[in-house]
Amino acid sequence: MKVLVTGGMGYIGSHTCIQLLEAGFTPVIFDNLYNSKATVNERIRLVTGQTVEFIQGDIRDKALLVKTLEQHNIDAVIHFAGLKAVGESVEKPLEYYDNNVNGTLVLVDAMRDAGVTRLVFSSSATVYGDPHTVPITEDFPTSATNPYGRSKLMVEECLTDFQLANPDWSITLLRYFNPVGSHPSGQLGEDPQGIPNNLMPFVSQVAVGRREYLSVFGDDYPTPDGTGVRDYIHVMDLADGHIAALQRVGIQSGLHIFNLGTGNGSSVLDMVKAFEQASGKSIAYKIAPRRPGDIAECWADPAKAYAELGWKATRTLQQMTEDTWRWQSENPKGYPE
Ligand code: NAD
Ligand code: WQD
Repeated sequence: MKVLVTGGMGYIGSHTCIQLLEAGFTPVIFDNLYNSKATVNERIRLVTGQTVEFIQGDIRDKALLVKTLEQHNIDAVIHFAGLKAVGESVEKPLEYYDNNVNGTLVLVDAMRDAGVTRLVFSSSATVYGDPHTVPITEDFPTSATNPYGRSKLMVEECLTDFQLANPDWSITLLRYFNPVGSHPSGQLGEDPQGIPNNLMPFVSQVAVGRREYLSVFGDDYPTPDGTGVRDYIHVMDLADGHIAALQRVGIQSGLHIFNLGTGNGSSVLDMVKAFEQASGKSIAYKIAPRRPGDIAECWADPAKAYAELGWKATRTLQQMTEDTWRWQSENPKGYPE
């Protein structure tokens, strides 16, 4: 099966390309390199021994998409491309709606023209807003608190309406919890530009001396140690979830929705401790005020994905932190240009 991977040079997309190759799929990457570097593909080749075709393009370029889908005889699309920084989305809502919502509509329109009817979409646990309880199942109410989250919710709603009107399509919405970790080779990992927004890249940059200390955003949440609790999932488990989705429901028409999480919650301080153990470095931190918009706790009930996809996360917190450290210590400045 040939799979177009939009955003395939990015963090989750690149790891998914490796697992696609390992599972016998042929990925074709479509990415505008807005938040990634083409050298990622070199690393994919180093790890797998296989070369992945890359088309540099924007998902809002319908003509290029149709041409790519047709010329490469694409059977299915995994759609990662988009913008993902919550804070930035508040400053630049138009860019977020254009890339994430408009971009997805252009992609689906292009797929329709090219006769490709299987789509897997990167959604997010952010669509659950501030959940009334945990763990979160797929039938929980959805809401958004910022333009990034709203863009994901809007896309979910557009795709739901579209699938209803086009019942022969297979559309899968995968709601990721907190992806962390790296490929165990140390060749691929998360390479944020500028100051990292997310916890683990920040912690690992403190460990290599790129940042002085971590600000822990709030220690007065109603959680065991007062810091925020999340469901951190190894990016390789997340990647495997896409393979399972393609194999199990990607060929069945319908709308399919799954949480991809571990079902375990870890606090900010748990993550700091786990990272200190994995790296042998001590992580300086200071307690800071709560970050606006943050919630106390969020973790998945991943039972549906296990029941219907036969998938569950297997990698431990220790593997997540060890693999993050291997990537960060061997590539302290991220990918080369
Ligand atoms: P990333 O920024 O590393 O990867 C996204 C890729 O998409 C980048 O390579 C970027 O260059 C490309 N891209 C952006 N806009 C594009 C456009 N208009 N046309 C073509 N390519 C474009 O992000 P990631 O962490 O790998 O996230 C992938 C997807 O998963 C995103 O849709 C994100 O919203 C979603 N997601 C991420 C997380 C997370 O914490 N990382 C959590 C939940 C959901
Ligand atoms: C995790 C915990 C912070 C940074 C975000 C998006 C979500 C999804 C995943 C895309 C929280 C604390 C963080 C720091 C800290 N992305 N923290 N100091 O906020 O759960 O989710 O990424 O879809 O939509 O909102 O992840 O890694 O930013 O934060 O104390 O410097 O770490 O307060 O408790 P979050 P995160």
